[in-house]
Amino acid sequence: MRIDVFTLFPEWFEWFSGQHHVRNAIEHGAELRFFHYRETTPLTGGQVDDAPYGGGAGMVLRVDVVDAALRRAYEAEGASPRVILLTPGGRRLDDALARELVAEPHISLLSGRYEGVDERVRERLADDAVSIGPYVLSGGELAAMVVVDTVIRKLPGALGHADSAVEESFSEALEGAPEYPHYTRPAVYRGWKVPDVLLSGDHERVRRWRAEQARRRAR
Ligand code: ADE
Repeated sequence: MRIDVFTLFPEWFEWFSGQHHVRNAIEHGAELRFFHYRETTPLTGGQVDDAPYGGGAGMVLRVDVVDAALRRAYEAEGASPRVILLTPGGRRLDDALARELVAEPHISLLSGRYEGVDERVRERLADDAVSIGPYVLSGGELAAMVVVDTVIRKLPGALGHADSAVEESFSEALEGAPEYPHYTRPAVYRGWKVPDVLLSGDHERVRRWRAEQARRRAR
C-alpha cells in the first residue's frame, strides 16, 4: 500500500516516520511519502494561501496550489489514488473507515492549514473528506498522522504480533466493541487482584470471559 501526505510541514512527520511500527510497515512493503505544497506552488515567493472572498479572519489554502501538488505528484506516472481531505467537517474516522482505507492500494491525504482550504478542493479534487473528531486542530498534519497510524497498524508486519491488530478495540473480530481488559504481572498489587479466570489456564473460559467483557464495555 502507498500513502502520500501533502502538507506545508513535512518536518512534522520526521519523528512519526521513525517510529518502530511505521518503519516495520515500510520494511514490509508499505510506502509513505510526503509532498510539500510550497515546492510545487505555481505562485511566486512560495505563496500557498490567500485572503478569503467575502472577508473574514485568516487565510485560505488555494485550490490551484493543491491542484498543482497533486498533478506534479501523479500526472507523469498516471497514478490515481483515493484523495482524502482532512477537515473537521469530514466523515468521522472509525475502525470501519480505517479498514476501508487499508484495502486501497494508494491513498493521498491532504492536510490543510490556516483558516481552511478552498472549498473547491473538497468538491473537485478530493474523493472524500475525513475528520478525526469534532474539534478543530491548527491543521491537518496531526489528523493525517492519526489516519496513517490507524491504517498502517493494520498492514502486515507493522505490529510485532500478527494478531495484535485483528483482535483490538472496535475490530470486526470483536464485533465493533471496545477491547476486553488486559492484565499482566504482578497477579496481586497493593491488594488489587487480576481476575481468577485469567490465571486458570482454561483457554475456553478465558475466551468467553473476554467476549463478555468486550460486550459489557460496548453497552
Ligand atoms: N483539521 C483541523 N481539524 C481537523 C480534524 N478534527 N480532523 C481532520 N482534520 C482537521
